[in-house]
Amino acid sequence: AQRTTAEPEKREEFSGQLGFILSAIGSAVGLGNIWRFPGVAYENGGGAFMVPYLIALLTAGIPILFLDYAIGHRFRGSAPLALRRVKRWLEHLGWFQVAICFVIAVYYAVIIAWALSYFVYSFGLQWGDDTAGFFTGTYLQLADVGGADPWFTLDFVPAVLIPLVLVWVATIIVLAAGVAKGLEKVNFVFMPLLLLAFGTLVVRALFLPGAADGLNALFTPDWGAMTDPNVWIAAYSQIFFSLSIAFGIMITYASYRKRRANLTSPGFVVAFANSGFEVFAGIGVFAALGFLANQQGVAIAEMDGLSGPILAFVTFPALVSQMPAGGLFGALFFGSLVMAGYTSLLSILQVVSASFQEKFGWTRAQAAIRIGLVAAVFSVLAFSTTTGLIALDTVDQWANNIGIVTSAVVTTVVIGWVLRRTEEMRFHLNAVSTIKVGRWWSFCIIVLGPVVLTYMLVSRIVSLVV
Ligand code: PHE
Repeated sequence: AQRTTAEPEKREEFSGQLGFILSAIGSAVGLGNIWRFPGVAYENGGGAFMVPYLIALLTAGIPILFLDYAIGHRFRGSAPLALRRVKRWLEHLGWFQVAICFVIAVYYAVIIAWALSYFVYSFGLQWGDDTAGFFTGTYLQLADVGGADPWFTLDFVPAVLIPLVLVWVATIIVLAAGVAKGLEKVNFVFMPLLLLAFGTLVVRALFLPGAADGLNALFTPDWGAMTDPNVWIAAYSQIFFSLSIAFGIMITYASYRKRRANLTSPGFVVAFANSGFEVFAGIGVFAALGFLANQQGVAIAEMDGLSGPILAFVTFPALVSQMPAGGLFGALFFGSLVMAGYTSLLSILQVVSASFQEKFGWTRAQAAIRIGLVAAVFSVLAFSTTTGLIALDTVDQWANNIGIVTSAVVTTVVIGWVLRRTEEMRFHLNAVSTIKVGRWWSFCIIVLGPVVLTYMLVSRIVSLVV
C-alpha cells in the first residue's frame, strides 16, 4: 500500500498526445542535432556511420527511451520521485540525473545566448571579415586571457549578458506557467517554426555552388570505420545525447501523460523525427561547408571547425559573409539554433524544477524562479573566469560523456539485474500502448544495454584519465 502514494493534488498533464510528442521532440532536437551530428558522422566513417548509428538507435536509443517512459508513466513523478517509487534508494539516481541536468542547463543557456546575439548580428554581418577574431577577440575576449575579468569589457553586456538574461527570463516564465500552459504552448509554436526555418536553410544550402562536394564528403562511406570500436562508441553517444535519454527528462515528461496514454507509438515518432532532423541537418550543414570549401579553394578534408561552437560561431559566420544574401541565411541558422536550443533547455530545467517541487513542496512558480535564478547566476559566473569556453568544454565532456552513460548503466543494471523489474515495465508499456513491445525489448535492457554501456563507460574513463 505504501507505493501507491496518493497524489496531493492533481498532477499536471499534457493536453494530449500531440502536445507530448512536440514537447519530446523539442527536447530531443537541440544543438546536438545541428552542430554535433554532422561532424560526428563525417569523422566516423561518413555514410558508413549510418550503420552503427541505426543499430544504436534500435538497440539502445529506443529501448531505453521506452524504459524511461515506463518508469515515469507508471510511477508518476519527476525522476527522483518516480525512481524512489520503484525502489527507495533509487531516489539517489534521480538526483544524480537532476544534477547533470542542472550543469548542462548552465552552459546550454550560454550557447543559446550567443546564438541569440549572432542572430541579431546576422542581419548586418556585424562580425566583419575576421570571423575567428570576432569570436576569440572581440566577442568573448578570449584573446586577453590572463587579463582582468573579460566580462567587464564593453562587449560583454550587449553581446552576452543581455541575451543571457533574456533566455533565463523566458525560461522562468514558461516553466512557471506549467506543462500544458507553458512548455507545451512554446513547443506548439517553435517546432513548426523550426522546421520551416531549418527546411528553408537546407534547401537554400543545396543550391549553393560546391554543395555536392559537401554531401560527398559527408556521405562517402568509409566501410573500414565499422571495425573501429570508437566509431561504435561515437554512434551510441550521439544517440544518447540526441534523444535526451537517461537524463530524467523522459521520465519526467512521461509522468505528465494521462493514465491511459499510448506510450510506444509516440516514442517511435519522437525517435525517428529526431534522427530524421539530424540527418537533415547533416545535409544542410555539409552542403554549406561544401560552398565554403569551394570559395576558399580547399577540400573539406583540409578544413577545421566542422562541429561544435567553432562550427556555429566561426565557420558559419565566415560562410554567411561570403554568400549572396547571406544575412538571411545566417538569421535562419542562428534562429534555428535558438529555437532548437531553447526548447531543449526548457526540458532540462523542468526536470530540476519538478524535482524540487515534489521534494520540498514548492509551488511551480517558486521552483521556476528559485532554480532559474541560481542557474542564471552560475551561467553568468561561468564567464567571470577567463576560461569560459574551456570550462564549457570540460563540463561538457564530463556531464555528457561520463554522467549520462553512468546513469544509463545504473538504470539498466538495476532494473534488469538487481531488482529484476524489466518484465513489469514491459507489461506496463503493453498495457497502455497500441504497439506492443516483445521480448527483444527486455533483451536490449537486460543484456545489450549493460554490456555496451559498461564498455563505453570504461573506455571513456580510460581515455579521459590516460
Ligand atoms: N537532445 C539535445 C540535443 O541534441 C540535448 C539535450 C541534452 C537536451 C540533454 C536536453 C538534455 O542537443
